[in-house]
Order: sequence, then C-alpha cells, then structure tokens
Amino acid sequence: MNIRMLKFIAKGDSRGSLISLESGNHVPFVIKRVYYIFGTQSGVERGFHAHRTLQQVAICVRGSCEFRLRDGREECTVQLSSPEEGLYIGEMVWREMANFSSDCLLMVLASEGYIESDYVRDFNEFMSLKQL
Ligand code: TYD
Repeated sequence: MNIRMLKFIAKGDSRGSLISLESGNHVPFVIKRVYYIFGTQSGVERGFHAHRTLQQVAICVRGSCEFRLRDGREECTVQLSSPEEGLYIGEMVWREMANFSSDCLLMVLASEGYIESDYVRDFNEFMSLKQL
C-alpha cells in the first residue's frame, strides 16, 4: 500500500520539545497546504475519499485518532497518537478517520492546494479506477 510511517526526531531540553518539518527532508514532497482538524465529537467518522494525485502526511499533534486505509487489494488501520510520527499517504489510497479523542488535533501537510476535482468520493468509482 502506498503509505508509510515517518519518524520525527524531537529536539528536547529542559524547556520542552520541538519538532521541525522541512519539505524534501522530513516530508517527501513540497508542502503547499497545511490544515488541521480539531473539535471532532466522539463517534464521528471523517474522510471517506481518496485523492487522484495528492500526497499527504497526517500528524496527530495532540490526542489520538485512527486511519483506516484501503488500496483495493489490502486494508490496514493505523493509530496515530504521537507528535513524533507522521503517516504518509500517497495517491489513490482510500482513507477513513475514526476514534478521535476529544482533545485530538490532527494536522495534515499536503502536496497541493485544495482541488475538489482531485477527490474520489465514491468507493465504487475508487475501486474501478484501481482496476485500470
Ligand atoms: P472534508 O474533505 O469533508 O474533510 P475530511 O476529509 O476530514 O472528511 O472537508 C471539510 C470541508 O472543508 C469541506 O467543505 C471542504 C473544506 N476544505 C477546504 O476548504 N480546504 C481544505 O484544504 C480541506 C481539506 C477541506
């Protein structure tokens, strides 16, 4: 599956911790957009789409949440619960997010701006695109 976990090294001292993310170094694409999701009520599920070309890195900066990922052949669930790790998601991976903790702050780095035509929101369409 076109996903992988990224490990970020925190610079820590007696004042606390700091993580810096640079395009092409810690993040494998040029970051063109950042958005973050917070205030998600328990029981709420989000996502339910894939992207035709967009690459993303999701980081649970605070709290925890779960990504359920599918590429048409395999599926897996990834729990994010640390600001020291990121989930890279390449193009054409179906994602659903669930089990947000009430304090969850999910930051997403994206390789492009917001382009609605890049979304595949219908699972059947996703499956047929994967079979091409
Ligand atoms: P949506 O794609 O439904 O979120 P999720 O993937 O978490 O289910 O996005 C929610 C709303 O925010 C929707 O109206 C589109 C808008 N939006 C933007 O305007 N810019 C963005 O970068 C994103 C990700 C969403």
